[in-house]
Formats: sequence, structure tokens, C-alpha cells
Amino acid sequence: MAELNGSRPDTPGLESRHCVWRVLQSVAAGAYADAALERELAQGSLTAQDRGLVTELAYGAIRQRRLLDAWINAHARVVAERQPPPLRWLLHVGLYQILFSERVPVSAAVSTSVALARRIGLARLAPTVNAILRAVVRRRELLPGPLKPWDGLILPTDPAERLGLCHSLPAWLATALLTWLPPEAAEAFARASATPPPLDLRINPARTDRDSQQAAFAAAGVAAEPLADQPLALTLPGRGGDLRNLPGYREGHWCVQDRHAQAVVPLLAPRPGERILDACAAPGGKTTQIAETLRGHGELWAVDRSEARLRRVRANAERLGQLDSIALLAVDASDLASLRPDWIGSFDAVLLDVPCSGLGTLARHADARWRVTPALIAELARVQSSLLEAVAPLLRPGGRVVYATCTVHPEENRSRIDAFLKDHPLWQLEQEQQWWPGEGGGDGFYAARLAAPALNAA
Ligand SMILES: C[S@@+](CC[C@H](N)C(=O)[O-])C[C@H]1O[C@@H](n2cnc3c(N)ncnc32)[C@H](O)[C@@H]1O
Repeated sequence: MAELNGSRPDTPGLESRHCVWRVLQSVAAGAYADAALERELAQGSLTAQDRGLVTELAYGAIRQRRLLDAWINAHARVVAERQPPPLRWLLHVGLYQILFSERVPVSAAVSTSVALARRIGLARLAPTVNAILRAVVRRRELLPGPLKPWDGLILPTDPAERLGLCHSLPAWLATALLTWLPPEAAEAFARASATPPPLDLRINPARTDRDSQQAAFAAAGVAAEPLADQPLALTLPGRGGDLRNLPGYREGHWCVQDRHAQAVVPLLAPRPGERILDACAAPGGKTTQIAETLRGHGELWAVDRSEARLRRVRANAERLGQLDSIALLAVDASDLASLRPDWIGSFDAVLLDVPCSGLGTLARHADARWRVTPALIAELARVQSSLLEAVAPLLRPGGRVVYATCTVHPEENRSRIDAFLKDHPLWQLEQEQQWWPGEGGGDGFYAARLAAPALNAA
């Protein structure tokens, strides 16, 4: 076989590392990690096993960017941020395997990285790649195990700097975490935010029950466990990839929904016969859960400002057999009172699952921690407050609204509720809950139920 760009074609595992490197390059250029990965995997012809490895290495290296940079800084002559990006991401591919991967031998991590340097036109830097990676390996070989990925680095003494470096969190988030939580809980948050979460499902009670679905999974050799706190939840440990071939998917027996996300609609407590608005509905996880509770009695409006995302609500509702029970409307929820004045004072309950920073779901989105900034939080807080103000007049006197997010940032959660209550002193906070990521195995969520006054003039 001919050599490709100077690399030796027989280096086993080179194709998958090349694919990981391309994903890292794309994400550094602004692409979303899941979209970049999907695109690269679609172009190659990797085996299922190699695709699994690429996913693990790409997501892991993106997530651990700060710690991997610290290893570069400790062993290279030029700090990571000033390295040419192709070299920096190549070193990340190699370092991630050395520090984190249980299935890749260190020798393979080094040899594939050196071969990759040649493949991507950095042949003259191959000795540098070799030297840096081997220096890291030698440094760690001197230490007694078991080793943490940061063992061998000189760590900062400042607690926030140390937390941020060891767990690859942006400095602002590590600092904030230590003001919200005791040190052990902040570290638990950091660990959970780097651990791929379990796959949780919600059973569709109109089509099956949890025991029957569990039996159907067992018959197909799929491990599924009921969750004690959620009556309709099953969890599938270690499951990922394409779920559409699992038993019951096409028949609408279940949908994917995190265990804590399943706890939000019970706080809204929809009752058959009620008129309900889901004001930020797509992709419809909670809309369909409300529809299940109404059992065809009542009126349910699913609003989302994105027409494309609203189509996903339609598809999900159709698969679950609920299309007749849900009315869809693509508009900005802030405009509802002016677009539909007849809706003012008309809803028994409103679910407001606002756009948020997603700090409770960092484990699901490898690049999210590098996208969220304090400026974005401030902007989101403004949007969240204005959405709450906009839907409040739609409630009937004594009606209820559940404000929900998948973040743990107090500015997006309790502070928004406090600001609303300050301006609307007759409203009451009836219940609120913060779920932290990892706690009980699920994502981080927040939900607060507010009751409108008997004469709602919000
Ligand atoms: C957190 S997601 C909702 C998740 C959904 N409730 C579920 O459980 O599947 C937030 C949604 O709000 C929508 N959104 C953002 N701003 C909006 C606005 N001003 N009006 C209506 N929808 C909006 C987004 O398009 C997005 O689909």
C-alpha cells in the first residue's frame, strides 16, 4: 500500500486517531462537538468498535482541554495556547489516551500520535510529539499508583485554580462552584460533569407498563432497571448510540428522558380537563408527559419559537400516539399575550422550561463548559425573566406556573424567582427543587412552582 502524506499506512489505529483530531480541529473552529463527530464518522468507514473509540477520545479530549493544556505547558517549550493549533490538538489526542484511556496502551498512544503527525503534514514535528508524550509517560512512571490524570503536575495552591485545573473546568465556574457548594460537593459536581450519564427512559402508560417493557428489553438481551423514585422510569446502564432499534421504540412504548427531567411535570401536577400551556416545548419531552397525564381530557398547547424544533415535538407526539391531544404553535412566547389576547387569564397551568446555560447537563455536551461564560449567563437571565413576565398574565386567577431549567446557576434559578416575586408580591413560591448532576445518577435541574393570586392581574 502507498504511504499517505508520509505516514506509514500500517500503523494500527491511525484512522481513528486522525478522525478524533479532525473533530478537535472542527470544535476549536466553532463547531458543536456532537455535530462535528457525527459528520466525521459519516465520512469514514470505521468499524463499530473504532467508532466507539473515536467518540470516547474526541469527547474526552474536548472536555479535558484545560488539564491537557497544563500537561503541554509542563513539558513543551511553548505554552499550549501559543502552539500551532494542529499540533496542540494532536498532542491532546495523544495525552488524553495516556492520562485517561483504560483501553489504549501507552505505547499505542505515543506511536499513533507520531504517525498522525506525519499524516497531517507535521512530519518535522514528529520528534517533538514523541519527546513531549514520552516525557509525560516517564514523569508518571516514577509515581506510585493508582494515578489520577493530574498526578505528576505541580498543582496551584488556590482551591478554585486547583479544582478548575484538575477537573478541566473554566476558572469562573470553578470559582463559582466553591461559593455555592462545600469543596467535596463541588468536586462531586466536577466528576459528575465528566462522567457520561446513564440512559433513562419514560414509559408511555397509554401503550405499555414498566414491567412489560422491562421484560421486552430482557428478551432482547438489553439490561434495564426500574428507578425507585420515578414510577415510569427505566434506566439502561451503559447504553448509547442509535436507540431506534431497541424494542418498543417504533411502537411508542417509551421516550428518552432523564430521571430528574421526569420530576418536573409532577410539580406542575396537570389534571385531566385542565387547559395547559407548555411555553418552551421542544423537543417535547415534558409536553408528551403532560399529555399522558391529561389522558385526552383537557387542552394542551405546545409553543416554541423554533418551527424546526417544534417539528420534533410533532414527531415525538406522533410516535407516542398523542398527536390529537397537543396543539402546536410556533411563536415567541414573549409575544403570546399580544398575539393571542384571548389567552390572557385562561390557563390553569403553564410550564416554562426556559432556555438556559445547561450547566446541569455538562456530561452530555463535551464542549458546553467552554461555551458558557458569565456574560452568557447574564444575557440568559434577562431572557428568562422576560419570559416569566410574559407568561404570567396568561394564568387564570389561582393558576400555577412551573419555571424550570437544566442548570445549577443561582442567577438562572432562584434569583429569577426572587426578582419576579419582588415585582409581584401577591404571587407565591409554593415549591422548588434543585437537583445536582450526579445526585441520584441524573442530570442537574431546577424547578419552582409559583401560584398566581386569586385575582391575577400580572
Ligand atoms: C430547555 S428547551 C425545552 C425542553 C422541553 N421542555 C423538553 O422537555 O423537551 C428550551 C426551548 O425553548 C425554546 N425557546 C427559546 N426561547 C423561546 C421563546 N422566546 N419563546 C418560545 N420558545 C423559546 C427553544 O427553541 C427550546 O426548544
